[in-house]
Amino acid sequence: MSAAEFLELTDPATFVRHDPRDYWDRIRPAHPIHWHDSPGDLPGFWVVTGFADVQAAYGNAKQLSSARGTVLDVLLHGNDSASGKMLAVTDRPRHQKLRTLMLRAFSPRVLGPVVERVQEQAATLVAGVVELGSFDFATEVAEHIPMTTICDLLSIPDGDRADLLAWNKLALSADSEEADELDSLIARNDIVAYFMDLAKYRRDNPGDDVITMIATAEIDGVPLTDEEIALNCYSLILGGDESSRMSAIGAVKALSENPAQWAALRSGEVSLDSAVEEVLRWVTPAMHFARTALVDLEIAGQQVRAGDIVTLWNTSANDDPAVFDDPRRFDLSRDHNKHLTFGHGPHFCVGAFLGRAELRALLAALVTSVREIELDGVPPRIYSNFLFGYSSLPTVFR
Ligand code: HEM
Repeated sequence: MSAAEFLELTDPATFVRHDPRDYWDRIRPAHPIHWHDSPGDLPGFWVVTGFADVQAAYGNAKQLSSARGTVLDVLLHGNDSASGKMLAVTDRPRHQKLRTLMLRAFSPRVLGPVVERVQEQAATLVAGVVELGSFDFATEVAEHIPMTTICDLLSIPDGDRADLLAWNKLALSADSEEADELDSLIARNDIVAYFMDLAKYRRDNPGDDVITMIATAEIDGVPLTDEEIALNCYSLILGGDESSRMSAIGAVKALSENPAQWAALRSGEVSLDSAVEEVLRWVTPAMHFARTALVDLEIAGQQVRAGDIVTLWNTSANDDPAVFDDPRRFDLSRDHNKHLTFGHGPHFCVGAFLGRAELRALLAALVTSVREIELDGVPPRIYSNFLFGYSSLPTVFR
């Protein structure tokens, strides 16, 4: 295959202009790994496409580091500024200790009430839009669930939530083609500063909440700094907001396009749990994650050198026919469905239970309140080489 047949993966526009799934189906068989040059002076990187190789790379945290960054765009332009402080961009042994601490935020005692609220909220939101006629599912329903869930998880005071939501929207505007990067950067700083203040407050006024838990915990006898606490609180928004939103939007889109699958879900022929897994595989909101090789190693039979950037394409791995039977079929009853949507290994998504619970609550609410799902226009794709999904979804529920 000539270089011209490879797509330019550094350019977000590529993922709007092309169907990434068609592309990976074309590339994967002959190219389980290939080198991708970058434009200008930016470094090139490896592209890993097959399920087994992507999974193995996620599991190989000893040789493949997350500390410089885990998203292609960040790695191409330097190091992640949260390196060594934020869970996702920290390597062992500190990663393991920080993760143990963060996992307290996801204990059944903390999550129980949060999941109950998610179920109530999803039911109320969906019941509210039925019979509205045409509405935007992205803004009317999908946008509200993840951020409320994360705010509940962190016990953000009600009076502060509007500010946090507004900053988060500005911070995310970088996903649009007309992004104002400065506004987005200022909003990110506002969020970190907000969490630093809240961490200080909760340390002096401890409560029974996740931020107090993180703010008063220690690693090797040393408390986390305010910046570390703030970055790790923010990381729950970074990890949990857009990806959950994209799965909800992708779920409704896929159900509208596959009426027989929707009928099977409504009739109870397929379980909600099985449907959740197929939606997660089908949508794969985080298209890739990336690592930096710490040593020379072999991936998919290819020599990779220390210092090289290695990108792992979940979106390709989740369609690998070596693992998934007829992967381009949306099949809610799929029984072998161990997808890589939440990654694998030491950095496996800490919010996976919550992400699944949000999606399950949405599907349950749809089954209860909706008979027919239709799209009312062509939804616009997100402008990103990291996140897959749609920024709006004109929908009709009956
Ligand atoms: C890690 C995807 C929901 C917080 C990850 C990773 C993936 C992922 C693929 C692994 C990254 C890597 O290996 O470098 C998703 C998807 C979600 C979702 C598709 C929704 C459908 C959430 C939620 C939260 C969250 C709801 C928090 C409330 C995190 C954090 C990490 C992570 C903090 C870093 C874990 C570590 O490095 O040890 N996520 N996630 N995610 N996710 Fe999620």
